Amino acid sequence: MQNFRFHNPTLLDFGKGTIANLSTLAPKDARILMTYGGGSIRQNGVYDQVKAALKDHEVIEFGGIEPNPHYETCMKAVALACQEDITFLLSVGGGSTLDGTKFIAAAIPFLGDDPWDILAKGAPVTKAVPLGCVLTLPATGSESNGFSVVSRMEPLEKRAFFSEHVYPQFSILDPETSYTLPPRQTANGVVDAFAHVLEQYLTYEVNAPLQDRQAEAVLLTLIEEGPKALENPTDYDARANVMWSATQALAGAIACGVPQDWATHMMGHELTALYGLDHAQTLAVVFPATMQYCRGAKKSKLLKYADRVWGLRDGSEDARIDAAIAKTEEFFRSLGVKTRLAEYGVTEGIGRVGQRIAARGEKIGEHAKLGREDIDGILALCAK
Ligand code: NZQ
Ligand code: ZN
Repeated sequence: MQNFRFHNPTLLDFGKGTIANLSTLAPKDARILMTYGGGSIRQNGVYDQVKAALKDHEVIEFGGIEPNPHYETCMKAVALACQEDITFLLSVGGGSTLDGTKFIAAAIPFLGDDPWDILAKGAPVTKAVPLGCVLTLPATGSESNGFSVVSRMEPLEKRAFFSEHVYPQFSILDPETSYTLPPRQTANGVVDAFAHVLEQYLTYEVNAPLQDRQAEAVLLTLIEEGPKALENPTDYDARANVMWSATQALAGAIACGVPQDWATHMMGHELTALYGLDHAQTLAVVFPATMQYCRGAKKSKLLKYADRVWGLRDGSEDARIDAAIAKTEEFFRSLGVKTRLAEYGVTEGIGRVGQRIAARGEKIGEHAKLGREDIDGILALCAK
């Protein structure tokens, strides 16, 4: 096992009716900026629950944060927060609202010239406005981590940053808020969480059996519970199990002491920036191809995955790996998420993905060895 440090400071308040607990979780003396997206919270009652819980707090609102939150929109919130002397941010919505809010939190006190440098150049974040979250879409794990992914429209870029200062102080996870998700977003959430586990599990052996089994537990739970949530959107137990799985997939525990890949996510972010695919759609396309292309380097973990997650124990090693990759793709498709670029209308210009990653001088994957040719090779495998 590799050395690691683990510190996750987010308080998680999980279950039915927990939005009411905002009245005590949100700091009493704060000036709160409540951020949200395109309006889903107004349709499903979450907005009313939040406002009722915060009736004795000072709250200013900022709506309109887009899926794949836009830098330009976040900067409008930064201006409002500065003008209103905001001291606490409350994100109400999915991963995009929360990621945008994390960036706003870091950009308000940023001392450099251009807050975009936080994303584009890894400029250090030395402090941030404290934030909390009411999550309505289980998927990203953003509710319990220090990551944020923000997109810029001009020039077109989707970039991520990590800072220990943007972990939410608390996140309220009420599975009932996810009842109103359209099937596409429910399925996206399951695929995203599944891919997060694979990025931390399908690498190489470092003799970390506990982390391996924790990862497998999340994968097996998503395979069992994801389809139930899709089939019966108001199945509380299924929604709760998916929500907790998605949080656990990217809250740091399964990453302790093990190598991590993230190549699929890096390619996926470029596909979203260039072609507008949903985040999870990019992962459903690229992950099976990454497994195929990297089957040599990932062999022992792929065989473990085949055995323990899909019960594939017969046949040659090659046959078991082929079957595990096929099962993964079948699972994504069974949720209604397509797995080939052509199915999303992406048929040309795909070389730009590798070009853009290489232009930043980056090599990706758990060995940081995948360069432009490898990326071209992976994307060729998921073209049709
Ligand atoms: O904007 P509103 O009106 O709220 O509608 C949203 C949006 O249209 C809707 N929605 C959310 N909760 C709902 C709901 N509709 C009905 N009922 C509800 N309860 O769903 C749509 C998608 O929302 P979004 O927040 O974009 O989805 P998600 O949570 O999947 O977030 C995706 C973003 O997170 C980033 C992705 O790159 C992408 O930008 N990621 C963040 C990570 C992190 N911070 O750790 C890791 C991930 O790998 C990922 O990169
Ligand atoms: Zn993801």
